Amino acid sequence: MNSRSLILGAALGAAMLSGAAFADDNTVTIGMILPMTGPSASTGKQEKAAAELYIQQHGDTVAGKKIALIIKDDTGAADVTKRLAEELIGNDHASVLMGFGLTPLALAAAPVATEAKVPEIVTAAGTAMITEKSPYIARTSFTLPQASAPMADWALKNGIKKVVTIVTDYGPGVDAEKWFGDMFEKGGGTVVEKIRVPLKNPDFAPFLQRVKDDTPDAVFVFVPSGQGAVFMKEFVERGLDKSGVKLIGTGDVTDDDLLADMGDAALGAVTTHHYSAAHDSPENEAFVAAFEKANNGMRPNFMAVGAYDGMALVYKALEKTKGDASGDALIAAMKGMSWMSPRGPVSIDPETRDIVQNIYVRKVEKVDGALYNVEFATIPNVKDPFKAAKY
Ligand code: PHB
Repeated sequence: MNSRSLILGAALGAAMLSGAAFADDNTVTIGMILPMTGPSASTGKQEKAAAELYIQQHGDTVAGKKIALIIKDDTGAADVTKRLAEELIGNDHASVLMGFGLTPLALAAAPVATEAKVPEIVTAAGTAMITEKSPYIARTSFTLPQASAPMADWALKNGIKKVVTIVTDYGPGVDAEKWFGDMFEKGGGTVVEKIRVPLKNPDFAPFLQRVKDDTPDAVFVFVPSGQGAVFMKEFVERGLDKSGVKLIGTGDVTDDDLLADMGDAALGAVTTHHYSAAHDSPENEAFVAAFEKANNGMRPNFMAVGAYDGMALVYKALEKTKGDASGDALIAAMKGMSWMSPRGPVSIDPETRDIVQNIYVRKVEKVDGALYNVEFATIPNVKDPFKAAKY
């Protein structure tokens, strides 16, 4: 190899390694990929609003760097997510990828993040193993094992002995079914039937008839954010709200985005989750008020808080690196980071890059005439149990 091709090779390598710095040393571009259309559009709407609110409140300059937020719609299709991730890094010189409304979308971007050495901040998806798919992934949403295992404990302590589980048939649903079911049976409970419902165009009615026939003490539910209202409607149509079968689950089914319109059938549902708009803290009161003000009264849900904290994590990491936006510096700075979120205290586990957070037990109640998930017990600092078992 002659010296000219050596120099050329080195220059190309440098350009590829430091895309952002090469484009504009003073701008840090965050490429946010969300389902803004399609069945998961409510997640996109919530996350976009929260990321923009964070910038509005904290300014668009961090450690001397200008923050540019680019939001792209992947329509909920994994091949589009992957292409957008490549374009955001290759064309827009994004230093960070963020968002990912569903597990398959987060997984589609993982090899892109690894190859480009660009952090992928997962602010929505919740299947436990996602963070193992790239050393550049960190998560500010939650994991289904983290939210489901505490529900088993509550059910066992509250006289529930026989349960039917209904989950959406893909990563997070399988996690919820396993972690609720295994913990419940370990504690002496019985799961009489495990029902899985398709992700696309779900029709819960035939499955709910089976639940009724099984006469369990409770039905444990996981459906992804956005599907809770359909589930609840069919729950009522099948007469399950009056059958004495208790509704329990992770908080995805009583999602704050939809809860207000679910009607009184949702009253009394007990769920475990990491965020409620009714969380009682000064940080959350300020967050909810600002979010509602900026978005025509829209109530923030757990997706919103995931994105708000995703932005917080990037801002805090940039402060720590003094503006160094290289992927390795940022992800190193994120490990072990802790802060006060609207949901309560959170941190990023330095080993797994997953979020450590409180899980709350909540009951749907009327507050000032509107339905809310009212928290009544706290399990502090919960690590994802799927990975805690391995590390
Ligand atoms: C996921 O696809 O990982 C997911 C989506 C919506 C939820 C939870 C998990 O509410």
